[in-house]
Amino acid sequence: MSIEGKLKPLTARHSTPSRLLGAPGPTEEEVRALVEAAARVSDHGRLQPWRLLAIHGEARGALGRALVALREARGEVLDEAARSKDLQRFAHAPLVLAVIARITPEHKIPEVEQLLSAGALAQNLLIGACALGYGAQWLTGWPAYDSQAQRTLGLEANERIVAFIHIGTPQGEVVERDRPRYEQLVCDWRPADMPAI
Ligand SMILES: Cc1cc2nc3c(=O)[nH]c(=O)nc-3n(C[C@H](O)[C@H](O)[C@H](O)COP(=O)(O)O)c2cc1C
Repeated sequence: MSIEGKLKPLTARHSTPSRLLGAPGPTEEEVRALVEAAARVSDHGRLQPWRLLAIHGEARGALGRALVALREARGEVLDEAARSKDLQRFAHAPLVLAVIARITPEHKIPEVEQLLSAGALAQNLLIGACALGYGAQWLTGWPAYDSQAQRTLGLEANERIVAFIHIGTPQGEVVERDRPRYEQLVCDWRPADMPAI
């Protein structure tokens, strides 16, 4: 197989905005396989510093309503656009996988490495979802960083939302964006006293 063919799962991947993701979503069998494949992630110390929440079906709308309710309960005034955005936030794609980093503090494996492992899991989910023929997008937004929203999602004090991975069938075309070229990314390192060839 050509180099291009071998790298297809990476080069074919691109985000599909969540508002363009609709039914059908992955089957239960596909979701299981996707999650287990994605969990084959680099994990220094084998801490498994991550877990996932599957948000689907009626729970998607319920989460949107809970987010609006918590904002209004603390006195935020939402105009119609903001209200509708939060109500719809999790309602477009049939499946949203929340990737949660479970940080063990003061461990010999630095916290940043635990967080990075969770980020790598999120990226594996994106690549895997696209390889299965679905569209996907990694979103965070305010609910990822809001302590009340985190409580609504059942997070413990040592846990952080790393990603909401929205997965579904693209309902429209996505315009591909420019991608960085090798020359923009890589330069050779050599010791200062080693002459250039
Ligand atoms: C940690 C992280 C958080 C992100 N959060 C958002 C977000 O909240 N809203 C958004 O529009 N894009 C967000 N993105 C960017 C999109 O997922 C996506 O990468 C971007 O639209 C570029 O598309 P591409 O994946 O095809 O390169 C986030 C990306 C990362 C890595």
